[in-house]
Amino acid sequence: IFLKQWEAQVRPYIEMIDFMRKIGIEKELALPSIAVVGDQSSGKSSVLEALSGVALPRGSGIVTRCPLELKLRKLNFGTDWTAVISYKEVRETFHDPKQVEGFVRRAQNMLAGDGVGICDDLISLEITSPDVCDLTLIDLPGITRVPVQGQPEDIGDQIRRLIAKFIEKKETINLVVVPCNVDVATTEALRMAQGVDPNGSRTLAILTKPDLIDKGAEADVLQVLQGKVVPLKKGYTMVRCRGQSDINENVPLAEATRQEKEFFAIHPQFSYLLEEQRATIPCLATRLTKELVQHIKASLPSLSDQIHINLSALRVEMKSYDEGPPLEPERMGPYLSKKMLEFSDQISELCRTGESSSGN
Ligand code: GDP
Ligand code: NA
Ligand code: MG
Repeated sequence: IFLKQWEAQVRPYIEMIDFMRKIGIEKELALPSIAVVGDQSSGKSSVLEALSGVALPRGSGIVTRCPLELKLRKLNFGTDWTAVISYKEVRETFHDPKQVEGFVRRAQNMLAGDGVGICDDLISLEITSPDVCDLTLIDLPGITRVPVQGQPEDIGDQIRRLIAKFIEKKETINLVVVPCNVDVATTEALRMAQGVDPNGSRTLAILTKPDLIDKGAEADVLQVLQGKVVPLKKGYTMVRCRGQSDINENVPLAEATRQEKEFFAIHPQFSYLLEEQRATIPCLATRLTKELVQHIKASLPSLSDQIHINLSALRVEMKSYDEGPPLEPERMGPYLSKKMLEFSDQISELCRTGESSSGN
């Protein structure tokens, strides 16, 4: 579903950026990525999984223990699903989507140990397939307060520092994941996101687990949705992902999408969200698409400046190559001695500093 909208709206921008990368300006251009923040077990990995169609490790307790960068790359021809996982010196390729979980868990165990520790090292998982869209998603460990057995005393601070590194970046869209059944007013992830994005232009809040709201507590959640508890510029989107029993029963993602739609359609309090396009994963995907297009559009002026700066630097350099050897024999002598002097200067400079000053 995401892919269709993506194709129509974002594809032209991505193609332009791909082209610019080919001509070598990848350093100047950071494509926006999407990072998820939230408490442990708030549903971050579930949201990313539903958005990307890639089955990620999820469950209760600390499951995501290293930042995982999920780079989805659409393949324009061929049908092979290929994943390359890289971390430290490891680089492995595999072709079965069912292996993602195992490879990611193995990577985490290598980097953060077998236990419950976390680690700053990034695991990069690049998936090329005709069925994904060009998108970078970052799954992060959840915020915890109380260390569990085997975790260092300062685990909370370690995780907050790690999250901050990602959500600070201006080109990152921050998805703040908050379960419906917790107090939004005291949600630390929201506070962190507001800290790095005070005017809320790149913060989207996602309310998860609407099926687990206590009977009678729906009115409180409605207050949150209406921005009466923590007002947010871009507001709240509600999604329902697969619960633990769905996972245990291997409910496929497509079936989960159908169930999600039905859940909202017949919900006495939340069905209005469907009309307002503020519920379901496909709707979240549409909103993200729009955010990405805006982000790319906003970065175009500075990109264009950068191209002009590079171009004039190149023109100056080209000019210095303009004057080749003179054609007139009487000017050849002075030309050669000038070149030899320049060369000898360069050699002395090289002996003195160990570096060539000519830059070429
Ligand atoms: P994370 O720690 O934030 O990455 O959370 P996970 O995505 O691992 O989810 C934690 C648990 O909550 C898993 O067992 C999920 O199946 C479950 N979960 C996530 N979203 C929902 C939801 O909308 N409804 C229900 N019932 N369970 C959910
Ligand atoms: Na979890
Ligand atoms: Mg997780």
